[in-house]
Amino acid sequence: MSRKPIIAGNWKMNLLQSEAKALFDGIKDFAKGFSESQLPGIVIAPTFTSLSAVASEKCNCGAGCDKIAIAAQNCHWKSSGAYTGEVSVEMVKDAGCDYVIIGHSERRQYFSETDEMINLKAKSILAGGLIPIICCGETLEQRESGITDSHIASQIKAALDGISSEDVAKSVIAYEPIWAIGTGKTCDANEANRVIAMIRNVVKEVAGVSAADSIRILYGGSVKPSTIEEQMSKSDIDGALVGGASLTAESFNEIIANTMKVSV
Ligand code: 13P
Repeated sequence: MSRKPIIAGNWKMNLLQSEAKALFDGIKDFAKGFSESQLPGIVIAPTFTSLSAVASEKCNCGAGCDKIAIAAQNCHWKSSGAYTGEVSVEMVKDAGCDYVIIGHSERRQYFSETDEMINLKAKSILAGGLIPIICCGETLEQRESGITDSHIASQIKAALDGISSEDVAKSVIAYEPIWAIGTGKTCDANEANRVIAMIRNVVKEVAGVSAADSIRILYGGSVKPSTIEEQMSKSDIDGALVGGASLTAESFNEIIANTMKVSV
C-alpha cells in the first residue's frame, strides 16, 4: 500500500521566536509553489516558546503551505496539575500543534524518559486528538553487541502497549540510531530499511496487518539533502525526522524537493 511520506524537522533547542518565524516562512514560501498532493507531509517541531509564533505564520491560501503541520518536541501525559515546568497535550494543541514528538533519545538520555512514560504520553496524545511521533533507536554499543533488533522491538512494544489498532495506524514512528544523530554518520539506507521493516513487523504483531500497513515509519540521523533520495527509494522508509539539516530553509527545502523526486 502507498503511504504518504512525512518530512519532519526537529529544531531541538534552537532559534528564538523571530528566527523560528523566519525559518518557517522560508519553508512556507517553498511549499506555496505546490499543491498538497504534490508535497510530502511536512511537520515542523519548534521549541515550546516558538509554537504559537510559528503557528500564527500558517496561512489559508489553499496551496501546499496550508498543510504544514506543527509538532511539539515533548509533552506531559497528565492534563493539568502541579507539574512545574511541564506542558500538557491540551496546551500544545492550543498552541497550534497537530503532532508531538515523544521518546527522543535526547529525552531518554538526558531527562530519564522511560518506556512507560512514553506509553503514557502516546495514549494521552492520541486521546487529545493529536498524533505521536514515537522515537526509538539503539546506541552504538547495543548495535555492536548485536541487540539492535531486540532493543528496538521492546521499545516499540512498550510504547504501543494498550493502544487500539486504529490509533496505532495513525501514529508515526521514527527510527533514529543514536550513533547517527548529529554525527554526520548516516545509517546505510539498506540497513535503515531493514530495521524499519522489522519495526513494521512488530507493529503487525501487536496491532495487526492494517495498522502495520498504514503507520508511517521515518528514519532520522544525519539526514541531508544528499542522503534522502536513496533513503526514500527504500520499500519501508516513509520519510525522515531531520535535525541539523532542518535549521536552514535551503537544506530543509532541498530535502523536501529530493523526496518529491522519488516518492509522493
Ligand atoms: P540530526 O539530523 O542532526 O542527526 O538529528 C536527528 C534527530 O535527532 C532528529 O530528531
